[in-house]
Amino acid sequence: MSVKQCWFAFSNAHFVLHLNLSLSCRTYTNIPELRNRSIPIIGLYAPDVTEADLENYHKNCPIVQLRPFTVSAYPNYFADLKNYRFKFPTVASVLPEFTTIFYVDASIRLYSIKGETLTDLFKSMETEFAPTGIRMLYQSWHRNFPATHPDMYAFFNVTEKQMKDTAQAASGLYFLNNSPQGWAIINKLIQCALEPKCMAPKGAKVECDYPMLRKNEKAVCHRFDQSALNMRLIEVYGTNVSLYYRGSDMIQIFQLTECSL
Ligand SMILES: *[C@@H]1O[C@H](CO)[C@@H](O)[C@H](O)[C@H]1NC(C)=O
Ligand SMILES: *[C@@H]1O[C@H](CO)[C@@H](O)[C@H](O)[C@H]1NC(C)=O
Ligand SMILES: *[C@@H]1O[C@H](CO)[C@@H](O)[C@H](O)[C@H]1NC(C)=O
Ligand SMILES: *[C@@H]1O[C@H](CO)[C@@H](O)[C@H](O)[C@H]1NC(C)=O
Repeated sequence: MSVKQCWFAFSNAHFVLHLNLSLSCRTYTNIPELRNRSIPIIGLYAPDVTEADLENYHKNCPIVQLRPFTVSAYPNYFADLKNYRFKFPTVASVLPEFTTIFYVDASIRLYSIKGETLTDLFKSMETEFAPTGIRMLYQSWHRNFPATHPDMYAFFNVTEKQMKDTAQAASGLYFLNNSPQGWAIINKLIQCALEPKCMAPKGAKVECDYPMLRKNEKAVCHRFDQSALNMRLIEVYGTNVSLYYRGSDMIQIFQLTECSL
């Protein structure tokens, strides 16, 4: 069994609403370790993905191993994949198999670049990022505060000021260790996903008012799993983001969560 693994989740909602999945997964062959399968990449698919979609996906991206995931063991509201409650429990369901995983949303494209390999990124989880067990790889242009529903403060010991001071890290891609530190992050996020008032509070909406988002003065939209993950990181590690964030040019975000699903 490999100790390292890349994997991602997708659902039919994603097919329909904003992705060209084949285009993303074809970029995985840019990465030598994925191309020669020395690091396996697994795609987890939701129950709404059809046989025809899977067949087509497999034809386009044969290096991706496909696995179903199910939300049937969870409360009914998990079935609404647009509230992203399914993501952290799905991550937790595969994490015990590996020492480190690289989670990517199905929309993420990967490019080979000079001077850095996927193996290097995994290595950073044994060194620089071992103390926190998580490495975020991409920061939004906006701060956490305007893109986080006010009800979330009831669940995380984080101040509005901390949220105003920090850029929101994208939750669509990160490295996570199967270590006490990694689990400390993810376990609370699973609790949040299970709590009806956390992660997707009533009235939360992903669409932002851009000028207000820029102003950083009041909450105008909500980023579900992303808002929750950023709060958890601040709660545990504070606002010095270099403890849990360092970007990489290997990864390109293709229409991430910027005010669309
Ligand atoms: C998705 O990408 C493929 C491959 O580049 C292209 O042939 C197809 O038209 C694209 N589909 C959509 C819906 O954009
Ligand atoms: C796969 O590619 C990586 C990166 O080029 C290389 O280090 C590794 O030895 C290769 N593994 C196999 C099994 O070919
Ligand atoms: C909340 O965080 C602050 C500062 O980070 C800390 O002093 C305080 O004890 C924490 N409160 C709880 C209830 O954990
Ligand atoms: C933030 O953390 C990094 C990495 O541990 C450290 O080098 C740096 O001094 C810290 N910055 C501040 C302002 O504490």
